[in-house]
Amino acid sequence: MATLVGIAGITGKFASFILGNLLAQPNVDVRGYCRNSSKLREDLRSSSRVSIVEGDASDLDALRRFAKGCDVVICCYLGDDTLMKDGQKLLVDACEIENVPRYIASDYCLDFTKLEYGQHPAKDPMKHVKAHLETKKKVKGVHILIGVFMETFWSPYFGVFDAEECKLSYYGNGDEIWESTTYGTAAQYTAAVALDRSATGVFHFLGDRKNIHQIAEEFAEVYGKKPRLERRGSLENLYTTMQEIFRKDPSNIYGYLALFYQYYCTNGQTYLKKDLHNAQYPDVNPVTFKAFMQSRTPQGLSGAYENPGSK
Ligand SMILES: NC(=O)c1ccc[n+]([C@@H]2O[C@H](COP(=O)([O-])OP(=O)(O)OC[C@H]3O[C@@H](n4cnc5c(N)ncnc54)[C@H](OP(=O)(O)O)[C@@H]3O)[C@@H](O)[C@H]2O)c1
Ligand SMILES: *[C@@H]1O[C@H](CO)[C@@H](O)[C@H](O)[C@H]1NC(C)=O
Repeated sequence: MATLVGIAGITGKFASFILGNLLAQPNVDVRGYCRNSSKLREDLRSSSRVSIVEGDASDLDALRRFAKGCDVVICCYLGDDTLMKDGQKLLVDACEIENVPRYIASDYCLDFTKLEYGQHPAKDPMKHVKAHLETKKKVKGVHILIGVFMETFWSPYFGVFDAEECKLSYYGNGDEIWESTTYGTAAQYTAAVALDRSATGVFHFLGDRKNIHQIAEEFAEVYGKKPRLERRGSLENLYTTMQEIFRKDPSNIYGYLALFYQYYCTNGQTYLKKDLHNAQYPDVNPVTFKAFMQSRTPQGLSGAYENPGSK
């Protein structure tokens, strides 16, 4: 019998990579959960191996219909705290009721387990979901940690790379390591973990680890042009700035979120383990910073976030 993998939030960017990887395997069927399947690509929606349950994240009956019979559920939600915390907890409850053995949480980020509640507001829901999973008897939690998505790192929104000025900005000494993985690599690992029935707990996967000077050097090797490096201040300056913006208006998420990511990506608190789990899935060939650059123009680097699948 084919393995049935449930993907919640199947219309999202990361989900579409996972779906592609799963459909490349024999004997795997996928059941998607979403609000409106018309967003899903027609060829995927009409695939005989893909079925869809439509419903709201707060609809336990629909969530149970989705979860029933799944060998594993992968969550790919991205949204506000209500979705990430309450929405995921209800999905976990549906998995428990329907005897789904494993739940892969919508984490795919730095090591949030090392954060205290309140330190990085966007990561609190993940800590709540992990704690909620630990109360369950049947469904086992799986957490996939990958650092920052490479597409996100290069995006204008993140505030490190300025394509127009060919500039990389940073806080700290410049020797702080950035841990990063592409959507594609992270999805390959997630699909591999989903199909590995023995895989439970926290997984650490990375495409690359480099400091900003090394990234700039590789940029120069690939594009023949050295980016300007701009030091914005110390990590303490960054911390003060982001806390000021946050305290002034916690609803101004776009004003501070990228700064929180920059801070916690490089301050050392949330690094992944030295010994990664990459070697457990040797079929995956992780994309490095350099390989990522080699497949794109400098402008394409900053636009990769919009459309992570394209060059
Ligand atoms: N480490 C990093 O740098 C980084 C960066 C980005 C994302 N991520 C992680 O990657 C994962 C997926 O991100 P993504 O880029 O693929 O996000 P995305 O493309 O925005 O997809 C988000 C998904 O969540 C669904 N969703 C949003 N609000 C919803 C709601 N209220 N009710 C039900 N479904 C809702 C969307 O469905 P609709 O189509 O119905 O809107 C969509 O399927 C998340 O775990 C996120 O934390 C990590
Ligand atoms: C789904 O989206 C399509 C296209 O935007 C729209 O026509 C349709 O009414 C939506 N369906 C539901 C159930 O909301």
